[in-house]
Amino acid sequence: MRTLDRLGDISPLKGDFPMFSEKGRESLVYLDSAATSQKPAFVINAVDEFERRCNANVHRGIYPLSEEATERYEEARGKAARFIGARSPSEIVFLRGSTEALNVLALSLGTWKLKRGDEVLTTVMEHHSNIVPWQMLSRKGVTVKFADIDEWGRIDMGDFESKINERTKIVTVAHASNVLGTVNPIREMGRIAHEHSSIFIVDGAQSAPHIPVDVKASECDFFALSGHKMLAPTGIGVLYGRSELLSGMEPAFGGGEMISEVHQHGSKWAEPPYRFEAGTPNISGAIGLGAAIDYLSSIGMDNVERYDREIIAYAMNRLMENEDIEIYGPKDAEERSGVISFNLKGVHGHDTAEILGREGVAIRSGHHCAQPLMDRLGIPSASRASFQIYNGKQDIDALVRALGVVRKVFA
Ligand SMILES: Cc1ncc(COP(=O)(O)O)c(C=O)c1O
Repeated sequence: MRTLDRLGDISPLKGDFPMFSEKGRESLVYLDSAATSQKPAFVINAVDEFERRCNANVHRGIYPLSEEATERYEEARGKAARFIGARSPSEIVFLRGSTEALNVLALSLGTWKLKRGDEVLTTVMEHHSNIVPWQMLSRKGVTVKFADIDEWGRIDMGDFESKINERTKIVTVAHASNVLGTVNPIREMGRIAHEHSSIFIVDGAQSAPHIPVDVKASECDFFALSGHKMLAPTGIGVLYGRSELLSGMEPAFGGGEMISEVHQHGSKWAEPPYRFEAGTPNISGAIGLGAAIDYLSSIGMDNVERYDREIIAYAMNRLMENEDIEIYGPKDAEERSGVISFNLKGVHGHDTAEILGREGVAIRSGHHCAQPLMDRLGIPSASRASFQIYNGKQDIDALVRALGVVRKVFA
């Protein structure tokens, strides 16, 4: 059981993350966890132990080593199911991450469910991975619509409702914005989507690392997450799908393991989730994700969420001490998760990020794969500080100090 006390100068969990004690990294201030998080030794060791002791392909061999590998892989599926409140492990498809999950949905629902004239409703705050796969269905005559945001970067529910109609077959929204930090009211959005008989998809890439997720309570039909943003390795993620829907869907990829029979004249699909896992999966990645879930669960996602809000509140207060910093998104930390995007007046985001980098503070700057949102905000780019349980007040203070250096350079 790991304990995450109230926010202090240094996170009580920082020592769990080897990155920060590696030679030359002791003073690293890592504020880019929304891009990818650091991993605790618990996760690194779980992957290492699996590769050393248990490595074999899964679902294929009937010798003990392969059976053990399969058992461990399926155990990780069970952990993922419990973590997001799925009814059964068979509702969990292991894929590379949120991008792949959303593409699989667009490909599969695109062939199975959508026809010319149908509409997909998303929001203007989405990551490109929840826009482009749907835009690619334009060749089928499917249109993508965007619900707007209000002046504080929250979803404009009036606009959202006005854009749903009988042609809306899919509603797909981010649970938490990777730029604004806004946490969307997915329960209400799901209810509205279902009232219009639309399928409701939630992109949980930025929420799963910080917020307790319950796919049943939030009326999600599908939910996507990326392991590497929640302390697990890269190249592993989850697509959750309600079993009634998954079992009626066509697979997006064909190959080994996703079939029950293959003949010259055609093939029969395997049952979900295997129907959607063509080829050899990222086995050790799944083990790592299972370990990350164990680690986060030992802290308790309620505690992780509380800590995240404390960091955000502290960082917003510190950043707002300076009038030349414009922050985007809700002003109340309670409405946010994980990230704060901002611009220092008169300084391009890339210059800010580069100087901060030289000062040992890692943040990201650019359009954050959310160009429609940048257009909506009328800015070319923003700097983004993003947080995890290994950050403490000292990291935020270092950010504020380094922004002072940027100011001096551009004075
Ligand atoms: C909101 C959101 N959705 C989807 C993605 C894509 O995640 P991945 O690159 O892990 O597939 C990201 C990545 O930053 C994201 O922030």
